[in-house]
Amino acid sequence: MRLNSERFLRDLHALRGFGAAGVGKGVIRPAFSEADVEARAWLKGRMLDAGLTPHLDPVGNLFGLAYDRSLLLGSHSDSQPEGGWLDGALGVIAGLEVARASVEAGGPPISVVSFQDEEGRFGVTTGSAIWSGQIALEEADALSDHEGIGFGDARASMPGRAETFVDPDRFTGFIEMHIEQGPVLDQANDQIGVVSGIVGIRDMKITFGGEQNHAGTTPMALRKDAFQALSDFNTRLNDRFRNVITPRTVWTIGHVNLHPNASSIVPGRVNFSMQWRDADADRLLHLERIVRDTASELAEERQISLEFGPLLGLDPVAMDPGLRNALRSGAERVAPERWRDMPSGALHDATNVSRLMPVAMLFVPSIGGISHNFAEDTAEEDLVAGLRVLAHAVGCLGQ
Ligand code: GLV
Ligand code: MN
Ligand code: MN
Repeated sequence: MRLNSERFLRDLHALRGFGAAGVGKGVIRPAFSEADVEARAWLKGRMLDAGLTPHLDPVGNLFGLAYDRSLLLGSHSDSQPEGGWLDGALGVIAGLEVARASVEAGGPPISVVSFQDEEGRFGVTTGSAIWSGQIALEEADALSDHEGIGFGDARASMPGRAETFVDPDRFTGFIEMHIEQGPVLDQANDQIGVVSGIVGIRDMKITFGGEQNHAGTTPMALRKDAFQALSDFNTRLNDRFRNVITPRTVWTIGHVNLHPNASSIVPGRVNFSMQWRDADADRLLHLERIVRDTASELAEERQISLEFGPLLGLDPVAMDPGLRNALRSGAERVAPERWRDMPSGALHDATNVSRLMPVAMLFVPSIGGISHNFAEDTAEEDLVAGLRVLAHAVGCLGQ
């Protein structure tokens, strides 16, 4: 097949036009935002132009289906509240270019997908989680974002959805190309990463309820300050995790909602996200116990209320050896001595899809290891190298 790298880069820049923000190549395109809905409409047109049959499923996953049973390529096109132009978008547009070049070459059939809400506005990789059966649709519909908007309402507002999901049996396997989003390839001056496995994740919202009061008149000893509770929780947690973690274990309190969030009021309530990731499912469970015990102990000591939201998560998964070998062979061809096998510390739709079919992933470098940031970027020659590795793997698999 003959790839058209100019067309590939042009489409990648065109997709960035939906929700373009910030300096550099930043993007604000969260799931179901106006920019996301418009981007999916544009993508649908590009799929049609490429000879694929678009199918927007009931939760907003957009497929471009080949005429026959095929490999599936893709990723997601929603972004973080502040994101870069490549996270997800790269895998979707690379998949589109390979499918298009394949149609032009007379085969093999290749299908493409852009999953919805990979970035977890509502859940954790919500669209692919529903498609794969990782989470039931009714359960997902009850999830809400930080503003209290429900997933069920958000998806109902999206025009043009079909009533049916795509049958996974249409596909023989899934390959997701992505930026690394970390420093490993960039620091080693490598061009390609072939992913060995994806870490697991746990994510939940926690609420401490204290007592809202006057910040001038309430003596320190009488306060039930929700912010102080959170601060204490964080310190204790960091200390207790120390005996359990490995250098690759990570945890984040990334979203904090302090009520009423005013300078002269002792905070009465705090609701925050607690997320932890590790490659070992037992360790994830061990960390969960520490999170729950620490929060409970602290709530009791401080005489404040405590509420845990639903625990969301995905277990660690290994990549399929056959698909992975096809990528390794492509990496050796395109970037001899400049590629490596490596694990993924970021989460991907491939985790969910592995419940349905064999999956594999490849990475290209992130400049400075920066992602989930307007400054996220990758050298164009590395983007094109990744595209060529993907096409080579598709050719090797000969479907
Ligand atoms: C996905 O972007 C993740 O949070 O790893
Ligand atoms: Mn991503
Ligand atoms: Mn992301």
